[in-house]
Amino acid sequence: MQKKGLMLGGLAALFIAGGALAAGPADLNAGMRSLMDRYLSEAQKKEPSLKAFSAEEGKKFFNAKRMHSTAKEERSCSTCHTSNPLNPGKTPVGKTIEPMAHSANKDRFTDPQKVEKWFKRNCAWVLERECTPEEKGDFITYMMSN
Ligand code: HEC
Repeated sequence: MQKKGLMLGGLAALFIAGGALAAGPADLNAGMRSLMDRYLSEAQKKEPSLKAFSAEEGKKFFNAKRMHSTAKEERSCSTCHTSNPLNPGKTPVGKTIEPMAHSANKDRFTDPQKVEKWFKRNCAWVLERECTPEEKGDFITYMMSN
């Protein structure tokens, strides 16, 4: 009984935190929702207990710094996008990047092909590997939540 109470509490907390229980937030378009569904089913192959993506995890991922093996500098998603997704960012050559948060830039996370293209490029630049489906799902959930 007590365990069930805890579980329900956890679910309520997820709702309150704005985390969606489906694969992606409701305001994603159909194409993006099917991308999020794909990320979730791929992530669940590795982690069957995973129920939903987490904005909190997405935030940690966005701000995590990592030493690049050859550039010998710390890199992060926030290096270009800044640590506040509501703010515009800057590329290393000084070109302005529109804010990443969907609330600040309605074009964000509307085009699955664009999203995949930039994940590929930016994950390689920061992490020297592809991002996992779980990292991508958490990241998008975070960007839809602020
Ligand atoms: C070297 C600078 C740089 C870094 C670091 C960076 N990005 Fe980006 N990102 C860009 C640029 C430039 C664009 C494309 C320009 C635009 O859409 O305004 C972009 C766009 C994106 C998009 C497209 C979103 C959309 O729907 O428009 C995603 C997704 C993204 N970045 C994810 C990430 C993630 C995840 C990381 C960290 C692993 C990251 N970025 C780190 C520069 C960067």
